[in-house]
Amino acid sequence: MALSNGWQQGSLGDNLDRAGVDRREFMKFCGRMAAVFAAGAAAVTASGQPATATPTAEEIATALTSVTKPVVVWLQLQECTGCSESALRSGGTTIEEIVLSLLSVDYLELVMAASGEAANKALDEANKNPHILVVNGSIPLKDDGIYCVVGGKTAKDILEESAKHATAILAVGACATYGSVQAARPNPTGAVGVDEIITDKPVVNVPGCPPIGEIITASITYLLTHKGALPDLDGEGRPLFAYGQRIHDSCPRRAHFDAGQFVRTFDDEGARDGWCLYDVGCKGPSTFSPCPITKWNLGTSWPIGAGHPCIGCTEKHFFDKFTPFYNTLPDVKGLGIESTAGRVGLGLVGAVAAGVVVHGAITAGQQLAAQRKGPLQAFGDSERTWLPLPTLRSDGASPPEPPATPAPDTASTPDTPQEK
Ligand code: SF4
Ligand code: SF4
Ligand code: F3S
Repeated sequence: MALSNGWQQGSLGDNLDRAGVDRREFMKFCGRMAAVFAAGAAAVTASGQPATATPTAEEIATALTSVTKPVVVWLQLQECTGCSESALRSGGTTIEEIVLSLLSVDYLELVMAASGEAANKALDEANKNPHILVVNGSIPLKDDGIYCVVGGKTAKDILEESAKHATAILAVGACATYGSVQAARPNPTGAVGVDEIITDKPVVNVPGCPPIGEIITASITYLLTHKGALPDLDGEGRPLFAYGQRIHDSCPRRAHFDAGQFVRTFDDEGARDGWCLYDVGCKGPSTFSPCPITKWNLGTSWPIGAGHPCIGCTEKHFFDKFTPFYNTLPDVKGLGIESTAGRVGLGLVGAVAAGVVVHGAITAGQQLAAQRKGPLQAFGDSERTWLPLPTLRSDGASPPEPPATPAPDTASTPDTPQEK
C-alpha cells in the first residue's frame, strides 16, 4: 500500500490512485482501524454519554481519501526507541504506510535520512507550519534539563517549540505520558510527561511500554478521519476507544479467576493449563488497555496469552505503583469490583477522598460483580478467599501457605466456590 514516491499534490485518495494502490489493501487497513475503534464501543464519556459512534471501514476510507498531506513531527526525547519500534513492527500497519501513504512525516530521527544540521533544519521548517506532533519519551527537568539535549537544545525547549504550531499532540508511550521508568522513584533526572510541560493545549495520552503499534496508528488515524477533533478521553487523557476497557473484563483467563483457579508458581499445573495469573502478580484488574482484544504482532499473542502477568504498563506511574511486579495486587480499600481506572489509580496512592476521576467504562464486571464468588482484596473487599488448593489441582502437590489474612466469613459468602 505504500506510495513509492511519497506525497504529491492532491488528496490521499489522489495519491493512492496515482500509485496504483490496491483498493482491497486500503480497505483492509481501514477495516483494522475500524476494529480498533470498535473495541471501545462499550465505553462512555465522563459525562455518561455514549462515546462517539464507531466509524465503519467504509467511513474511515471515505474520510482518509479526502485527507490532504497531514504533516507530522515525531520527537524522540528521553526514551529507548521501543515506542517507535512498536510502530515499525505493528505489521500490516507498518511505518512505511504511515509515512508514505497517510502522513508526511517531516521529522522522525529513527527513519529520516538527514542527520546533524540538516535534521535540525528539517525540524525548524516543519515546526513553522501546522502539524500533528507525536512525542516519544519523557522530559527531564532536573539540572536545567541537561540529561536530554539534542542539537544544543533541551528536551523541554524542543518540545515547546514543536508544540507551538501543533494542531494535535499525541504523547505516545509510558515515558511521554507519565515519565515511566525514568520518573520512577527517585526520578534522578526529574522526568515528567508531555502534559506537564504543554498545558495550553490538550494532549492525547497513548500509554504503554510500548503501546501496541496498531493503537498508535489508530490514534493518528482518528485525528485524520475526524478533521483533527480529539477522541473521547478518560480521566488520564487516554482515548476511550482503546483504553475504555479493563483487561480483567476481556481476559480469556477470567473464567479461571471466577472459579478460583489460580497459578501459584510459573511451572505448576495451573500455569500449564492457562489458569488465572492474579496470584503471581497480574495487574489486569487495575489496568485499562485493549491488549486482550487487539493483541500484539498482528494479533499473534499478548503478555497474559503468553503466560506472563500483566504489569499494568498503560497505567500512570505503573513502575512505582505495581512493583514488585510478581507480588499480588495490593489492597484497594473502599472500592467495589466495578472500580474505574481513575478510582483504582487514586486508591493505590491512598487518595480516594480527593475526588474520583470518572473513567466511564462499562465493563462486563458489572454483571460479574453480582455473580462473583467471594471477596478479593484487589477489588476493595476487606478480606480474601483462599481456596484449598488440593481441591483445585489434580497433581496432588501440596499448596504453598497463603499469606496471613483474616479467615473468610463463609456464612456471609454462600457463593464461595466449592470443591470440585
Ligand atoms: Fe521505551 Fe517503554 Fe519509554 Fe516506549 S514507553 S520509549 S518502550 S521505555
Ligand atoms: Fe486475566 Fe489477570 Fe484477571 Fe486473571 S487477574 S483474569 S490473568 S486479567
Ligand atoms: Fe502492558 Fe499489561 Fe498489555 S503489561 S502490554 S497493559 S497486558
